[in-house]
Amino acid sequence: MDLTDRPRRLRTDGVRPLVSETSLDATDLMAPVFVDATTDERVPIESMPGHERVPVDEAVARVEEVLETGVEAIMVFGIPESKDSEGTRAWADDGVVQEAVRRITRETDAYVVTDVCLCEYTDHGHCGVLEPGARGDATLTVDNDATLDLLAEVARSHAEAGADMVAPSGMMDGMVGALRHELDASGHRDVPIMSYAAKYASAFYGPFRDAADGAPAFGDRRHYQMDPANRREAMREVRLDAEQGADALMVKPALPYLDIVRAVRESFDRPVAAYNVSGEYAMLHAAAEKGWLSLEETALESLLSIKRAGADLILTYFAEDVAEHL
Ligand code: PBG
Repeated sequence: MDLTDRPRRLRTDGVRPLVSETSLDATDLMAPVFVDATTDERVPIESMPGHERVPVDEAVARVEEVLETGVEAIMVFGIPESKDSEGTRAWADDGVVQEAVRRITRETDAYVVTDVCLCEYTDHGHCGVLEPGARGDATLTVDNDATLDLLAEVARSHAEAGADMVAPSGMMDGMVGALRHELDASGHRDVPIMSYAAKYASAFYGPFRDAADGAPAFGDRRHYQMDPANRREAMREVRLDAEQGADALMVKPALPYLDIVRAVRESFDRPVAAYNVSGEYAMLHAAAEKGWLSLEETALESLLSIKRAGADLILTYFAEDVAEHL
């Protein structure tokens, strides 16, 4: 046997940590938090074991639980008390996210990011206001440019409530530019924008739509979210958002799209975020419940893989559980 190159030499317990190429830290993670204006007690989210929708009164307590694990950043999602065709509760001064953010930023040290979208606030569940499509009323579609004005209002109201960063997730063309313009004009020049830049029309969002009650009442999101088949198009989406001033660029979902995470990392000089979405969380839980996988190990391996692909930060429902084991 004449083997000079033996990679196994560097796999002993003593040396493995020294040659490890990727590490995962609690400060790389961001935890989603759901605040619900329709309830006055915590409601477990069935398809996302361990997660709950909490009333505004519990928002601070919920965030303190996150902080105790070592995770320092949260993404706030809101479930409003009522919905309408425009989603007006999304930019209300006394809206659920605005109220929660005011309290969280006053009473905790969490870094607070808000999801800027209309789908939880519109009665039809789409991410913007509707207009007749190419073939009339039977093919209603989201009116891109009218939606931009509303998204800008939402972002301004979040910033006014104290949000540290805003994250537009609606996949409208020009949304980053519209937000940047409105934030600058309203005195929030220093509030960064993390764009859901390459967000795919994914079936992995299923559990989230239960959690946030944001499933479209008809049709789907394929006319504004990206086709899972496309990689070049993701580069175009990300470039447009970078040009419009996005401070950080997100790819979503994460695990089925690690090639996109890697490609964005290599082509752009801004922080890359990856969203390890609800379905990625739910499937590991379901398998673990059956005794088929180790939840702790597969969660950790998933997050490590997302970092190895090139993500600087990860939004994940595993944030608290994994942080406690790091
Ligand atoms: C809102 C939004 C969605 C998610 C985050 N922001 C749902 C969607 O686009 O349908 C999904 C998050 C997840 O699945 O964990 N636009």
